[in-house]
Amino acid sequence: MNIWEERYQNEQFGWDAGAPAPALVDWCADCDTRYDKVAAVGLGTGYDLQPLSTIADTVIGLDFAQSAKTRFEELVLPQIKHEDLHYLLTDFFSYDPKVGFNLIWDYTFFCAIEPSERGKWADTMARLIRPGGILLALIFPVVEKEGGPPFAVIPEEVHALLSSNFELIDSVAPKTSHPGREGKEFITQYRRKS
Ligand SMILES: C[S@@+](CC[C@H](N)C(=O)[O-])C[C@H]1O[C@@H](n2cnc3c(N)ncnc32)[C@H](O)[C@@H]1O
Repeated sequence: MNIWEERYQNEQFGWDAGAPAPALVDWCADCDTRYDKVAAVGLGTGYDLQPLSTIADTVIGLDFAQSAKTRFEELVLPQIKHEDLHYLLTDFFSYDPKVGFNLIWDYTFFCAIEPSERGKWADTMARLIRPGGILLALIFPVVEKEGGPPFAVIPEEVHALLSSNFELIDSVAPKTSHPGREGKEFITQYRRKS
């Protein structure tokens, strides 16, 4: 069994904050763009689909753990009113949609993968996001620590990984964070180059 599926089955999901990321809630509330097609990757229980559903016509959550999807269906889906919202059980790295996305959200997915997979993560983001599209990442945890997951993240490392295919638009500390994550996050926006 996949290690992530096992963690959900054993209820060892300390990363699950039980609510959408406050930085994403604020970003969506301030957003004056309506997006065609938005994805959230390594979605877990999927609270973040709630704010994303307010700014997009098609909303896709992606995770490869069946138990995460089951939690989403029980805990989150009943709270969301949206006609074109889907939770796909898929591996991020091999996901190959016919049409790319205008916006992809990553929170606690980048820090969950092995650091050796970070280059592949950047290449996959470039493949999945249309030219001009946005990668919105809540970079976490910006701390000094060994091992993981979550593996420590250095924002400049993420910028460097993405620099050949993305332009950095903005990277700031969010006004609010989940309790215990204050001062360890950066809400960061990149635009896919043409
Ligand atoms: C640390 S959890 C974060 C979940 C969610 N973003 C949150 O903040 O609660 C990482 C998630 O990524 C998923 N995941 C890890 N590797 C994946 C992969 N290659 N493809 C799809 N999902 C993956 C796991 O199943 C898990 O739900």
